[in-house]
Parts: sequence; C-alpha cells; structure tokens
Amino acid sequence: MKSAISGLRERIKNKKVKIAVVGLGYVGLPLAIEFAKRGLFVVGIEIDRDRLAHLRRKETYITDVTSGQLQQVLAAGRFSAKGDFKCLKEIDVVIICVPTPLRRKYHPNISYIKQAVRAIARNMACGTLVILESTTYPGTTEEVILPLLEAGGRRHGKDFYLAFSPERIDPNNKDFPVHKIPKVVGGITKDATELASLVYRNIIEKVVPVSSPRVAEAAKLLENTFRLINIGMIDELAMMCHKMGIDIWEVIEAASTKPFGFMPFYPGPGVGGHCIPKDPLYLYWKARHHGFKSRFIKLASDVINYMPEYVVDRVLTLVKRENRQSAKTDKARILVIGVTYKKDVKDLRKAPPIDIIDVLQKKGVGVSYYDPLIPYLKMNHVDLKSIKLTKEELGNFDCVIIATDHSLLDYGFILKNSRMIFDTRNIYRNAKSDKVVRL
Ligand SMILES: NC(=O)c1ccc[n+]([C@@H]2O[C@H](COP(=O)([O-])OP(=O)(O)OC[C@H]3O[C@@H](n4cnc5c(N)ncnc54)[C@H](O)[C@@H]3O)[C@@H](O)[C@H]2O)c1
Repeated sequence: MKSAISGLRERIKNKKVKIAVVGLGYVGLPLAIEFAKRGLFVVGIEIDRDRLAHLRRKETYITDVTSGQLQQVLAAGRFSAKGDFKCLKEIDVVIICVPTPLRRKYHPNISYIKQAVRAIARNMACGTLVILESTTYPGTTEEVILPLLEAGGRRHGKDFYLAFSPERIDPNNKDFPVHKIPKVVGGITKDATELASLVYRNIIEKVVPVSSPRVAEAAKLLENTFRLINIGMIDELAMMCHKMGIDIWEVIEAASTKPFGFMPFYPGPGVGGHCIPKDPLYLYWKARHHGFKSRFIKLASDVINYMPEYVVDRVLTLVKRENRQSAKTDKARILVIGVTYKKDVKDLRKAPPIDIIDVLQKKGVGVSYYDPLIPYLKMNHVDLKSIKLTKEELGNFDCVIIATDHSLLDYGFILKNSRMIFDTRNIYRNAKSDKVVRL
C-alpha cells in the first residue's frame, strides 16, 4: 500500500485527484463547487430528484452558490451530477454530506449516513479515501462507518482510508465563504488524517489536524453546544428582564463594551436550521450511553423550545390590552413577517416562526404571514399564502410579529402602516414609536 498511498498523495497535491461529494445540499453543493472552481474534477451524487433536475437545468437552489458559478464549472467539465454511485469506480476521494436529523427528541437519526456508506462500500475502488462531513455524535466514524466499510473484507490502511472532518458552513455569511473557514480533520490513522488534510488544503486556507475522528466529531458538537447554551441563557435573561422592567437589548449593548471576557448573544423567538437545535442533542444522546446526563444541553434546549410560546403569550396579552378585550383572543388577527429560520436564507427547517404560527393556529387565532422568499406554506393541513404587503393589508392586523428579518423588507413601510409591532429581532432599536414592543 506504500506506493498506492504515495500515488494518491501526489495526485491530491497535483490536483489530479477525482472527488465525489455525496449529498448536494446546503453543505455539499457549495463544497463541490469550491473544489471544481479550484480546478479539481468533481462528481456530485444526489438522490433527491428535484435537486438533480435543478442541476440538469443548470439552476442553483442554494443561496451560497449562484447559477453562474454552477454553469461555469459545468461548462469547464469539472463538475457533473449523478443520481447513483456507479461512478465511484473512477473516484479517489468520497466526501459524505448527507442529513443527520433527529428521529425523535434526543434520538439521532444516522440512517442517511449508513445508507450512503453502504452504497459507497458497494461501489468504491481500492485505495479510496472516504471523509464524513455530516455532523454526528462522537464515535460514529469509528463505531459505525469503519465496520460498514470493512464488512466486505476490506481493511483500513490497506484497501481504503477514513477520516471525519466537520462542516462549519454558515449559509449566506458573505464574510466566511467555504475557503475561509478553518477545517478540522481527524483520521482513523495518521495516514488518513494526512491524506484528508491534503485534500482540503487544495481549497481551504487553514486545516487543523487532530488526533482522532472522535475529537473532530466532538469539536463540532462543542461549537454548536456553546451556541445553544448561550442562546438559551440569553433567552432566559430576556424573559427575566421583561418581568423586571429592564431592557435586555440595552443591557447587552452595555455589557458588550467590555473588551475581554464577554461575547454578546441575542434573544430571539427560538433557534432553527439543521444545526443548533439538534446537534447538541446528538451529544446528549451519546453521553447518556456513557451514563452521563448533560443538564446544560437539556435546559438550554427546553428554554429555547419554549420561546415561540412565550412570543405568542406576550403578543396576545398586548392585543388584549390594546383592544380592551376580555379573556378571548380568538378574534385577534396576527401577521407573522419572515418565516425562514434565518435572514435571507430560503430554509424552513425547524424555523421558529413556523412554531409561532402553529401555536397561534392551535389557539384559534387568525394568523397570516408574509415572507418574500416563501410564497406558500402548508401548516396543520391548511394551505397558507404569503399576503401582499400593502398599506390596507397591514392595517387589518392587530399585531405584526417581526419573526425573521430579511434584506428585502421595507421596515419603515411596515412601521408606518401597522397598528402594533412585536419585534423579536431588535430591528426597530432606534424607532421612537410606541407602536413597537421588543422581545
Ligand atoms: N446547513 C447548515 O448550515 C450546516 C452547517 C454545518 C453542518 N451541517 C451538517 O451537514 C450535513 C448536511 O446538511 P445540509 O444542510 O447540507 O442538508 P441538506 O438536506 O440540505 O442536504 C443533504 C442532501 O443529501 C441528500 N442525500 C441524502 N441521502 C443521500 C444518499 N444516500 N445519497 C446521495 N444523496 C443523499 C439529500 O437528498 C439532500 O439533498 C448535516 O449533518 C448537517 O447537520 C449543516
């Protein structure tokens, strides 16, 4: 294998290596395009027909990749998309970027990883380097993937190499595109770590090798647990400050003037996306198998999950007070503005505004939404359509909830024409209007 490994090493360094990216979503597509832009030959493997059809029409479906970038690498013959794994016979490096959702609360679902790895094992050539990027619990690479790849009698270090390298992409963050985010790499052996590090050095400014896959897996979960816990803490402080008549936003601004030992986090209506709400629960689950219960993760997760309900309670209390209504709020009309989980990203996974709409619907409150990125929604078997944001429409609502901010929104227009605004994003920090109530 010595000569095979040096051959692979040379091909990686000379950019002659052929790469397959399995799963062309928010993580996989930008990564595949980055390799192709830097002159490497990349095949993307995707099982979702709708996404494949977009790629065949040379159209993007991910904010971080433009159709122009896609067309360039397609035209240069450096990128192609396939719906099966047969091409792996010609491939040197396979990078797995498939989803890792929760099966139910606190229970990881790594079936997408297992399914992809089984298909890779059936098709890969001898000497292939396999890298997992999907976020998962510590131990997945060694305890689950390695046995699956060795099941047919292959041996690591002889017939293939395996490493874990967590993806840290932040969709739509223009300051940190793929190549500027340092990449942590942990292989089963030193050779595997070295080969995987060389692969990423072709596109990423800084590569950080670590001693094992489980360190790399745990590092990613530390990053996301750090965020979950701090967001849970500041959400709790926001609720506490409201009770105490203190403006949390001003408190954060003041505390942020400390030049060391403090990092601001901001409260919000919850946390969405395919990372923060669920990744720490992978760690929680795995720790339980070692007889350890993480109180921090559970508490932060519970506080954050309560936020949509808290927002609805505050809004309905305001509406009652404003309309001098009795206990009944089912006559109220509420507009939720911004329903994606994140600013300017067309992704509804675990989006808190969806939970807010759900809570309002279940309370029998008339709720509509507006989002320039999402024309239609299906909620509790009801089809909803984004309303037209006109002066007349805005005037019809008892309260407008700013749930997610978008660059496309005209906040001055919304303020001028709304009767009352509940601002969960601190958009109206400088507005001197008693129409605005902040979280
Ligand atoms: N979205 C983020 O911001 C982000 C950031 C860092 C890490 N991650 C992690 O990266 C992983 C991928 O996340 P994502 O947001 O890109 O998910 P995604 O759902 O957008 O993309 C995953 C893609 O994999 C495809 N897929 C599933 N099984 C497959 C198979 N067997 N073969 C080929 N394709 C298959 C799906 O059809 C989908 O298009 C997850 O583990 C996630 O936690 C996500």
